[in-house]
Order: sequence, then structure tokens, then C-alpha cells
Amino acid sequence: MADDVVLEAVNIVKHYGSVEALRGASFSATAGEVVALIGDNGAGKSTLVKCMVGAEQPTSGLIRFEGRDVHFDSPTEARTVGIETVYQDLAVAPELDPAANLFLGRELRRPGILGMLGMLDKARMRQRAVKEFDRLGITLQSMDVPIGSLSGGQRQSVAVARSVVWASKVVFMDEPTAALGVVQRERVLDVIRRVRDEGIAVVLISHNMPEVLAVSDRVEVLRLGRRVARFRAADATLEDLVGAMTGALTHEDAA
Ligand SMILES: Nc1ncnc2c1ncn2[C@@H]1O[C@H](COP(=O)(O)OP(=O)(O)O)[C@@H](O)[C@H]1O
Ligand SMILES: [Mg+2]
Repeated sequence: MADDVVLEAVNIVKHYGSVEALRGASFSATAGEVVALIGDNGAGKSTLVKCMVGAEQPTSGLIRFEGRDVHFDSPTEARTVGIETVYQDLAVAPELDPAANLFLGRELRRPGILGMLGMLDKARMRQRAVKEFDRLGITLQSMDVPIGSLSGGQRQSVAVARSVVWASKVVFMDEPTAALGVVQRERVLDVIRRVRDEGIAVVLISHNMPEVLAVSDRVEVLRLGRRVARFRAADATLEDLVGAMTGALTHEDAA
């Protein structure tokens, strides 16, 4: 594979009691690409992502980040090196404005006196938020209203932006478009492309195969807890993907 692999999972085994969720799964993500991680329900996609971001600890196997073996104790630790996750529920705080949502848990403060926590620096957060939404191609009706009053699509865009803005290396998106209508989905796909074009590795988990083929550069397929195929999206057909997911086709070494 390309030499700018940024994050890699090698032979990950994960047991939950007697359940073998992963049985030697491998995966790699390269800077500046969208790589889709696909597989049938129960194939192990979410578990593999959790192992890569430190939300779960593998039973065995290695995680490598920028060529070095790493061990993340928690997603918070993975975040410190620029690895972010967009969760399926796309949680936002509806009563807060867009800027406050973007900075939720990472609020900027003015310097405090005598070692005390300073006041929230709302102006600086607002300024930065405007810049980041612009960079991601997200247009909002208003920056001054609780985001609960924005349209569903705008709300989802803010939810996605909340993780994406902080990702400097890798962003995992587990079914980010699952609950969205066509227009909202297109907005999220646009954000994904922009982030990729900035040189970040985007890992997309999706059940929507046309979407996978439309937005991905590469596809890796999990089946029964193992990687069974890799494709360049440009060379793959729907039949290839479905065949690999269901076990009709296997060519782990083809790509
Ligand atoms: N916390 C857990 N406890 C027990 N079994 C689990 C847990 N999480 C996942 N599994 C099992 O591991 C397998 C892989 O699950 P998952 O990673 O969620 O697959 P996917 O995301 O591809 O649908 C499934 O058989 C699932 O039931
Ligand atoms: Mg899952």
C-alpha cells in the first residue's frame, strides 16, 4: 500500500466473553483519502473502529499510528494526536448556538486571574466557528439561534463539523448519513470530500453501497471479523462489494 498510511490495525482479535467480534482483522487508512469500511451487520466494523480509537482494548493485535505502535487508553487520548470520531447519533446540544456546539467540551476562555478559570471567550469562539463552517462549506441560516431551531440538515452539518474540525489526521464516521434525507446526505458527503482534500484520512462506515462508491477512494471489506477484500473504488462495482461482503468473492490480496 501507499507509504503515507497514517493509521493501521494489524491482526486485531477482540473477544467479548465467548463472542469473537474480530478474528485477526487488519485495516489501513492513508492521508488524503476516503476509505470505506464495509461489511454485513455483525462483521465487526464498529468493534474495529472502537479498537483503533481506544474505546475498546483489543484482545491481541497491533495499532500503528504514523508508523509507530500505539496504545490509546481512551478516545480522549486518540483525540490528542488528531484522531476524531463522528458517532452515529450525531449528538448536539439543541439549546446552544452553532459556535457553542462546535466548541462543546473545548471552550475557549480568556486568561483567568490568580490561576482561576477565565470567562468564556465567546467572541473568539464565534469568529473561529464562522471560519470553520466556511472552510467546510456549511452555510447556516443564523449563528445566533439555538441549533434546535435550525433545519435538520444544518443541525446534522454542525454535528459532523463538531468532530471534523478537530481532526488533524484521521476522522472515523460510523454511518454518518444513516438517518438523513437526500439533501442532508449530500451536505455530509461534501464535508467528507473537503476534509479529505485537506489531507486528512476519512474512514467511512456505510451500508449504502452507491454512496460508498460515490465518495470513497478505497474500500476495505470485513466479513466475520476479518478483512476479506480491498478495492480501489474506481475499479470496483456494486457486485464486487456485495460479493465480498457476503463471501461470494474473496481476494484479500487483490488490491
Ligand atoms: N459489547 C459487546 N458485547 C458483546 N458482543 C458484542 C459487543 N459489541 C459487539 N459485539 C458482537 O461482536 C460482533 C461484531 O459487532 P459489531 O462490531 O457491532 O459489528 P458491525 O458494526 O459490523 O455491525 C457481533 O457479533 C456483535 O454482536
Ligand atoms: Mg456497527
